[in-house]
Amino acid sequence: MKTGKLGDLKIVRYGHPALREQASPVGRVTREVKALAARMIELMIEARGLGLAANQVGVPRRLAVVVIEDTPTVFIDPELEKAEGSEKAEEGCLSLPRLYGEVVRPRKVKVTARNLAGKRFTLEGEGLLARALCHELDHLEGRLFVDQVDESTLHWLLRTSDGEEPVVQPTALEDALKVFLLAREGEKHR
Ligand code: NI
Repeated sequence: MKTGKLGDLKIVRYGHPALREQASPVGRVTREVKALAARMIELMIEARGLGLAANQVGVPRRLAVVVIEDTPTVFIDPELEKAEGSEKAEEGCLSLPRLYGEVVRPRKVKVTARNLAGKRFTLEGEGLLARALCHELDHLEGRLFVDQVDESTLHWLLRTSDGEEPVVQPTALEDALKVFLLAREGEKHR
């Protein structure tokens, strides 16, 4: 697997083509796969996220990390085995920073994957964990939470300065996405 220099990897934002790609299977857990997972965990912790998919660092391969009971857990070639019930709750994404909105997700899921030792495991999750798992699995299909967000709940959460209450600013989906695309354009011309 070619990932370029791992130290150069960073979390990409809305508009980056990798976020819309269907990730391809990882297969064998090589040294490079392990290094990629380690770098993703680093980036996720740095950004204070609960999960990160490889697409989000510009590498469309089926690999995701999710924080489970304070422990970053690596999922290689994960598959959704079972989903039950439904629940609506707020969600955000490290690739769409400061944007939040409500998404309907299964209440309970069962996921199988392999760990860094190449060993297959099954995990059942409910509530927030089920939500995080579905969110990351979606990333691996090139899907984002804004694809299914209840637009009437979409908002920016803007922090003015430390210690102050964040400001909630409702937004239309189209306007929010434009903000990310304009920021991307700006970066290209810098
Ligand atoms: Ni995300």
